[in-house]
Amino acid sequence: MPTAAVIGSQWGDEGKGKIIDYLATRADMVVRSQGGNNAGHTVVADGKKHALHLIPSGVLNPAADNIVGNGVVLDPEGFFDELDSLSSQGIDTSRVYVSDRAHIVFDYHKEIDRLSELKKGAAGIGTTLKGIGPCYADKTARVGIRTCDMLKPASFREKLAARIDDANGLIVKIYGGEPMDKAQMIEKYAAYAERLAPYIRDTGVLVYEAIRAGKKVLFEGAQGSLLDLDHGTYPYVTSSHPVSGGFTIGSGIGGASIGEVVGISKAYTTRVGAGPFVTELTGDMGDLIRERGHEYGTTTGRPRRCGWFDGVVVRYSARINGTTGTALMLLDVLDAFEELYICEAYEYGGKRIEHFPADLEMLDACKPVYRAIGGWMQDITSCRTYGELPEAARAYVAAVEEATGVPVKIVSVGPGREQTIVRSGIL
Ligand code: GDP
Ligand code: IMO
Ligand code: MG
Repeated sequence: MPTAAVIGSQWGDEGKGKIIDYLATRADMVVRSQGGNNAGHTVVADGKKHALHLIPSGVLNPAADNIVGNGVVLDPEGFFDELDSLSSQGIDTSRVYVSDRAHIVFDYHKEIDRLSELKKGAAGIGTTLKGIGPCYADKTARVGIRTCDMLKPASFREKLAARIDDANGLIVKIYGGEPMDKAQMIEKYAAYAERLAPYIRDTGVLVYEAIRAGKKVLFEGAQGSLLDLDHGTYPYVTSSHPVSGGFTIGSGIGGASIGEVVGISKAYTTRVGAGPFVTELTGDMGDLIRERGHEYGTTTGRPRRCGWFDGVVVRYSARINGTTGTALMLLDVLDAFEELYICEAYEYGGKRIEHFPADLEMLDACKPVYRAIGGWMQDITSCRTYGELPEAARAYVAAVEEATGVPVKIVSVGPGREQTIVRSGIL
């Protein structure tokens, strides 16, 4: 089956955008199924850097349809800012379609996100403040507003007015904030509704028909498995399902419709925002990874926390996603280290732990059990075949395979499309 799903195996920012863009040169359709513009996917094509948030990373391939599926939460302001920016660079955005079932992120969701983080203080999640959690909360509480609602102007205004009243109640009474201007917000989103209408489709049908016609369909994950609402480090997670199961619900297809599941992993580990991180490096080593990998958030600009490769995390991720192959990213960032470490297991209370624990207190007390591997201490950014990589780099890749139980099918040695070593074809 010529379909593949790309998921993040760690805490997001693994390089999904680069691999989607690479695979999209062969794809007929790229589908986003969860998250919203909390995602920041960087694509470097022809030396030019593009940061994508809501628009699928296949948009640089003019031959592909780009689907924003029903499981995505769509901020119209973010959507059009991004679309306009791409269009102004001469990129064809005429094949972007938005599901009629996607929920809308409104200004009050962003305000509640901000106030909720403020109230939590030091115990905050460190969200992207894009209103993602509050929007999914409304969806789950069955009071959300969907894109199909936007197609009926009069009832859309009524629904939105009622929601603004409820949101203002929460903002004022629970968070002690200022009420938001109802009339202004209604006018703002009524204008967006009009502009969004031509993009709205029953995208489930488009995806289904593409799969039935044997077209190459690529499912683009956002965030990472350890940020999954069920499987991640709860409550330090996002409010959607970045695991491969999220594609079936978030784009309306059967589970058997996904051929290959590619787990995108950094050759080390990063995370933005709060929450447990067993292999985190807080000293010079962490700083060196951050500087070499330019580890600053694509969406928020925050410095990312950095650490060694955590095999327990990626093994866990392989299990819950059914990963069939790994794309090992940013291997070049490790060029400058004499000694490298891969975490094979955790130690907790004198016992060896092989499986990622649910309990955060236990995770905080877990110590990494490392395997040391010699570095290669040379620039690998111009290697184009697996054989050209230094022996020590190949030994590192083999150690990753051993720790995770998944074959490494792609090795990435730089942000550019051409800096991609494919060991085994996907799609
Ligand atoms: P995503 O959210 O998973 O799409 O990842 P981000 O775009 O947020 O972060 C990955 C960063 O790493 C981006 O700046 C990419 O351009 C960059 N990148 C991707 N692959 C490589 C690589 O192999 N080497 C280097 N040095 N940078 C890479
Ligand atoms: P991409 O797709 C990394 C993190 C936030 C925070 C938590 C909850 O670029 O990999 P949210 O705003 O979603 O409610 O924040 O999730 N987070 C990400 N971290 N990459 C992302 O996306 C992320 N999207 C959300 O930092 O810890
Ligand atoms: Mg990112």
